Amino acid sequence: MTHLMEKIKETAAFLKEKGMSAPQFGLILGSGLGELADEIENPIVMDYKDIPNWGRSTVVGHAGKLVYGDLAGKKVLALQGRFHFYEGNPLEVVTFPVRVMKALGCEGVLVTNAAGGIGYGPGTLMLISDHINFTGQNPLIGENLEEFGPRFPDMSNAYTKAYREVAHEVASSLGVDLKEGVYLGVTGPTYETPAEILAFKGMGAHAVGMSTVPEVIVAAHSGLKVLGISAITNFAAGFQSELNHDEVVEVTERIKEEFKTLIKAILAEL
Ligand code: HPA
Repeated sequence: MTHLMEKIKETAAFLKEKGMSAPQFGLILGSGLGELADEIENPIVMDYKDIPNWGRSTVVGHAGKLVYGDLAGKKVLALQGRFHFYEGNPLEVVTFPVRVMKALGCEGVLVTNAAGGIGYGPGTLMLISDHINFTGQNPLIGENLEEFGPRFPDMSNAYTKAYREVAHEVASSLGVDLKEGVYLGVTGPTYETPAEILAFKGMGAHAVGMSTVPEVIVAAHSGLKVLGISAITNFAAGFQSELNHDEVVEVTERIKEEFKTLIKAILAEL
């Protein structure tokens, strides 16, 4: 068994032993959106630092807790705070929780993030239809974990169509204006230049952000179904005069109630 596989099995067994057994869905909650995990009922909560082989979260707005329990009638395992490549985490660490979610038996993952809009403006909720991996990295480089999936995985349907249909139906029944588009992933931590954003627009991107792509690649590799939603917090570079993290935090704060309501309602229907 490869070293990584041993670590995944060890961590899954540890969490199971703590009572986190048979989750149906994994939730990966982005900047400022982690509050959703506070609504999980009958929670079992673990600090990241107490979980073997687990990474550490260093960004403000990312709590660094794993929360298991009931949400919208489903058993969920939620990451309150994800790991980013720009923090210096190897992609093996960034995507490790996704592999553990699979090992524990999850059917799908719901991935959320804050992103800059290319066309879409602050406050927009965008369902991710597809992504462009512009990180120059791939989390599957290295020995393939055959137990999870093939060496050359198909990414044609990484964002599960049936989940997207449910998301649109639920959004319209709630009166939420849910847009859809392509998420382009970069490593960060710099925001983009206006020239980069123009290039990304030409490539077909509707949103840009510093997360999600590695986790979704690993999820798709292992056959996990994926639903991705971006909270657009700002116009991407060049479409507004300047960018700063404060605006990202402020807009996330403004839309998080609508966001949480939408995610719970979607989860109930999956
Ligand atoms: N670019 C990259 N990541 C982001 C942005 C952005 O404009 N906004 C929020 N996360």
